[in-house]
Amino acid sequence: MKPRLKKLKKLLQQESLDAAIISSIPNIIYLTDFAHFSSEEREAFLLITGGNNYLFTDRRYIYAAQKHVKDFTICEIGQDNHLEDWIKKIAKKEIINRLGIEENNITIAEYKKIASAVTRTKHYDLHALRMIKSQQEIAAIKKACAITDQAFEHIVEQIQIGMTEKEVALLLEMFIKKHHAELSFNTIVAFAENGAYIHHKTGDKKLTANSPILIDFGVRFQNYCSDMSRTFFFGKATNEQKDAYQTVLASQEKAIEFIQKKLAKKEVINLSEVDLIARDYMVKKKYDSLPHALGHGIGLEVHESPRLSPASEDMITDGMVFSIEPGIYNLNKFGIRIEDIFAVEEHKLVQLTNSSRALLEIHN
Ligand code: GLY
Ligand code: MN
Ligand code: MN
Repeated sequence: MKPRLKKLKKLLQQESLDAAIISSIPNIIYLTDFAHFSSEEREAFLLITGGNNYLFTDRRYIYAAQKHVKDFTICEIGQDNHLEDWIKKIAKKEIINRLGIEENNITIAEYKKIASAVTRTKHYDLHALRMIKSQQEIAAIKKACAITDQAFEHIVEQIQIGMTEKEVALLLEMFIKKHHAELSFNTIVAFAENGAYIHHKTGDKKLTANSPILIDFGVRFQNYCSDMSRTFFFGKATNEQKDAYQTVLASQEKAIEFIQKKLAKKEVINLSEVDLIARDYMVKKKYDSLPHALGHGIGLEVHESPRLSPASEDMITDGMVFSIEPGIYNLNKFGIRIEDIFAVEEHKLVQLTNSSRALLEIHN
């Protein structure tokens, strides 16, 4: 049995479940290595029991699933075979009393249908399933990060006064696709005061001289994501912008150094403490506290466990991959964010996105 399925079955045992429905597409990809389903629509479910694994999908995907998905019985959902009919049949045959349902993923309508097929359901949390990555997963993220660095270099070379935010985003997308990868989320390109909107919607604003440029983008390679932000200046940065930039950079460096030192001493590192190190530094420098979490895990999804936030209960472990992304947002003026991806390998913090973080002013 694949180690991933083994890990899941162990988690189910800990929850005293006889079987579980897996409904989130990233978890389906993780367990089947089959990435054809859209994550915007509900096109498949898995049922994992003590002894068997089932994949339910409709005619659009059934032949591809039969061809590519190993270790699963492929069951077709259709007019005469609804998901709940399949579950009912299998639950009777395999004596499933307590069926687990992924608590962060299902709609109430789906829940009602699934619950009608068994005697008891229990919701369970799967956030830990993908939190620790294998070397193979980290290798895919490293490749996504390498393309990210190349794409950023390309943009720094290509960006010109008069280009719109959308044009810059399109240049990035073309570069990434030419390198056999996809976007991992909608690219954020924010000129001047638009950078103060943390997740600005890339629009038609044109680049003018002496403007800060905030770009936050990610690459998906072999299903694994990267995520990087850089803020740089077309022309000259003001002293106010420079001070904010150096504060963001230093707060990211404080967090990195904190992790590195504690890893070297083999001390426990709570991710909530890492968040506080960066946050407190910004406050000490008389800026507002960070208006979002310092970072997040990344893998098959751009945002996954662990969280680097004041409320995080996770501790750093080998195999984790996460962002560290402090920012200062000065409404109606500008925003500065610096974001990089890191992996923890053999008790060391390894930086995976490596574009320069030195304050960059482009003159041409
Ligand atoms: N681009 C989303 C994020 O940085 O979390
Ligand atoms: Mn980002
Ligand atoms: Mn991020």
